[in-house]
Amino acid sequence: MKQERIILDVDTGSDDAVAIVCAMLEEEYDLLGITTVGGNCELKNTTDNTLRVVDACGGGVSVHMGSELPLASTLVPWGIQGMTLPHYEKNNVFGSFHPDRLPLPDPISKVQEPRAAVWLIETLLAQPDYSVTLIPVGPETNIALAIRADDRILKKIKRVVLMGGTHDVYYPTQAAEFNIWADPEAAEILLTSGLDITMVSLDATSDVLLTEEQSQMIRAIGTVPAVFVADMIDQRLKASGNNAGAALHDPLALCAAAHPEVLTDVWDTSCHIDLGRGYAYGETVLGRNYMQVKGEDGMLHDLPNNVHYARKADREFFFHWLYDILSSAANH
Ligand code: RIB
Ligand code: CA
Repeated sequence: MKQERIILDVDTGSDDAVAIVCAMLEEEYDLLGITTVGGNCELKNTTDNTLRVVDACGGGVSVHMGSELPLASTLVPWGIQGMTLPHYEKNNVFGSFHPDRLPLPDPISKVQEPRAAVWLIETLLAQPDYSVTLIPVGPETNIALAIRADDRILKKIKRVVLMGGTHDVYYPTQAAEFNIWADPEAAEILLTSGLDITMVSLDATSDVLLTEEQSQMIRAIGTVPAVFVADMIDQRLKASGNNAGAALHDPLALCAAAHPEVLTDVWDTSCHIDLGRGYAYGETVLGRNYMQVKGEDGMLHDLPNNVHYARKADREFFFHWLYDILSSAANH
């Protein structure tokens, strides 16, 4: 079986947790390690949650603590505390999607040294050229720090498949998607790195909703990981209040890393992030080729296409991919 050598960067949260379960149980992934970042919750909680999930799936994968805060933005994306939007503070919206403590036993395994950015550099420099797929599913702070600290790692990265960005579906602000909005400067460093980047956007993940019936099918598998995934789907169904189903953003990025066919409408385009500190801070600015830049020849050129932007995904493919991982692991 062809294995994808991957590194997951997470802000564990309920959907990050499902991505970790799938990465650990599915043999087509060679998971080199996991790095954590502040995002859905404070770094301590995203890290403890990551350790809980790793232990629940049998352990044996190193977890490296990363950045608490974004590179430059004034946001402190700890769930809702740092948000400047009264709606979120009043309604504790994030807490209902991403509890500070996931419903799993306290972790036995410990975080490993070195910290995330150093581990990323040391691990990537030790790999063959263009051999590792990075899968960031939280704010891209750790990845940006590693790139700025030692750009030799770029040659070791085959491609990046990230969960983030948006064009038609906005959350949590009127202009942006959370992972990008939580650290816009980090996202722009990644987008201007020259790496091969697939953006599994909120447009695509909002397409792929899981229903209560599908949650019950997963729960019936009966293993600890399967019951936990069903709990996460139910948590998100309750928090979203959406009868049509619950989006599981992060595992779709993982699925796309091994099965790009799950992405049904992909647009090669230019993508940059609005770094102004206004209402559009963190906006994913796509395909605006009227913005031209002066090339080395002194002439004006369109912005180069720097992302494969996924707008839609195959809901049935994703569910069967998720179900098959959990059910085949149950038979091992
Ligand atoms: O916008 C969705 C993203 O924000 C997901 O990664 C979710 O975990 C949250 O971090
Ligand atoms: Ca996440």
